[in-house]
Amino acid sequence: MTVKIRVDVKCCVGHARCAAVAPEVYELDDNGFNTTPYKEVDESLRKQAIRGMRACPEKVITIDDE
Ligand code: F3S
Repeated sequence: MTVKIRVDVKCCVGHARCAAVAPEVYELDDNGFNTTPYKEVDESLRKQAIRGMRACPEKVITIDDE
């Protein structure tokens, strides 16, 4: 099983909280923006992925099945 993460990168404004609370899941570019529209991570990172999703004030992160 993998965790499927989608980011509406056009709406990311660079709050960087996703990567702050879940550094193993979310990566930012040099300007602090999340530019990864889709990625899958191991099920063991699900809790961290959810934490990052909830930390985004813009609500641009969605996780399948959550
Ligand atoms: Fe962007 Fe939200 Fe992360 S605005 S940098 S996806 S906290």
